[in-house]
Amino acid sequence: MTVPPVLRLEAVRQQYPNGLVALDRISFEVAKSEVVAVVGPSGCGKSTLLRCVNGLEPIQSGTIALDGAIITGPGTAWSKVRQQIGLVFQNYELFPHLTVLGNLLLGPLKVQRAAKAEAQVKALALLDRVGLADRARDYPRQLSGGQKQRVAIIRALMMEPQVLLLDEITASLDPEMVREVLDVVLELAGEGMTMLIVTHEMSFARAIADRIIFIDAGRIAEQTTPEQFFTAPQTERARQFLNLFAFAPPPGHHETAGAAAVQTEESSATTSDSNSLELHE
Ligand SMILES: Nc1ncnc2c1ncn2[C@@H]1O[C@H](COP(=O)(O)OP(=O)(O)OP(=O)(O)O)[C@@H](O)[C@H]1O
Ligand SMILES: [Mg+2]
Repeated sequence: MTVPPVLRLEAVRQQYPNGLVALDRISFEVAKSEVVAVVGPSGCGKSTLLRCVNGLEPIQSGTIALDGAIITGPGTAWSKVRQQIGLVFQNYELFPHLTVLGNLLLGPLKVQRAAKAEAQVKALALLDRVGLADRARDYPRQLSGGQKQRVAIIRALMMEPQVLLLDEITASLDPEMVREVLDVVLELAGEGMTMLIVTHEMSFARAIADRIIFIDAGRIAEQTTPEQFFTAPQTERARQFLNLFAFAPPPGHHETAGAAAVQTEESSATTSDSNSLELHE
């Protein structure tokens, strides 16, 4: 018997109530322990895609299956299914009135009715793994953005999901915090966590993904290896998109900067001249 993929999307179409078709004919699979990165221009449908997989947006046609079972039909027990599909957003969404530990225990105790002592041991072990063992009693406001995001990731892991969906989880972080969060994700990938990742961090996508899906205007325009996508993209749209991440200075840029520097020196010379004139008066 062949093992079904963890996720399988077939001809998914999603239309918002205002008529906008955000996703059209989206078909792909994510196998167990595979990491798939979804990239594409702003507004192309990446977040909508993750929201559909998690049942936060209904789809109009096509199917989404988790572990071989269709979850987009009528009668899906979403509260059960969502325990299998962890979702982490850009803005942490930790409960501000609960401690870090409180945030981590909420799902297991309320939804899974896990034993408190056991869940607490698990939470502390996960905190330790992401370098936050000493922050269990802190409130989210006492943490940096990178620390909050690491808590949000392990909060999703508390439910032991089959797949983790990450939507731009480093987008609102300062650069030095991006790394600490991406390192956690890299470690999860190394341990075989199945992940569907939306990211604007192209070098990260290249390093972590087994496959890249490039979406343009709600459709998959390319689906290929990171190597192929980043070195020889097949579509003009992908080439344009990747060019946005290349910061070559425009021609003549350095000459202009040099001229500006000379001008500054001249103006400061003028200033000191006038100062010395004043002194002599
Ligand atoms: N609730 C909504 N109602 C109507 N249209 C929406 C809604 N949410 C998103 N859209 C539209 O659907 C399209 C896809 O949006 P989505 O948020 O999925 O894009 P995205 O690829 O995640 O963009 P970004 O990179 O900026 O996060 C966009 O045109 C967006 O304006
Ligand atoms: Mg988005």
